[in-house]
Amino acid sequence: MQQPAPDHKHLAKFLLGSATGFFIGTVQGVVQLLPPVRAWLDSVGSPISGPGHMIDPLAHVHINVVGGVVLMTMAVTYYLFPIVTGYPVWSRRLVHHSFWWTFIGVCGFYTTLLIFGIIEGNLLLTDPSAIPAVHRYYAPVLSAVATVMGIGFWVFFINVFMGAKSYLFRS
Ligand code: HEM
Repeated sequence: MQQPAPDHKHLAKFLLGSATGFFIGTVQGVVQLLPPVRAWLDSVGSPISGPGHMIDPLAHVHINVVGGVVLMTMAVTYYLFPIVTGYPVWSRRLVHHSFWWTFIGVCGFYTTLLIFGIIEGNLLLTDPSAIPAVHRYYAPVLSAVATVMGIGFWVFFINVFMGAKSYLFRS
């Protein structure tokens, strides 16, 4: 009797999230080349330091590599693992958690870098003495969203390694 096709609908959000990450990242990539935007980014430190560095390359890199590449890599791993090993992914609940922590984390990481980059960039050109009052929130906010993003990665690693354990130590 023919086996029902395995259900992969739960991976659709990874594909959508990845396309969203690449869309935002590529639009930013083009916008940051427009001469007035490029001149502004260069005047506030991009790509080496300060507010400009937060926007280009940090925000641009992470929305593309974490938002785009990593979410796609997670989906491909969850799709291929049962096919390659013959063993199911360890936890469907952790599949959902790895997506939502990573996606919400990278959205938070991206918007934090962009918002602080724009606010501090404008202050750098208008009133640099006002930067410390804003910048003191940067590290706590960025560490909080970076931790959310990191939890997404670590849940993914746990799910893959526990699945691999069942496969590698199969009796
Ligand atoms: C939880 C996940 C991650 C966190 C919290 C994170 C955090 C950071 C931070 C704070 C920096 C800036 C360091 C500085 O001030 O120069 C950075 C730089 C960078 N990250 Fe990540 N990152 C993560 C994942 C990744 C991944 C998965 C990749 C690539 C696949 C990546 C690629 C890069 C690159 C290329 C830079 C250097 C950008 C530059 O200055 O040219 N990151 N990351």
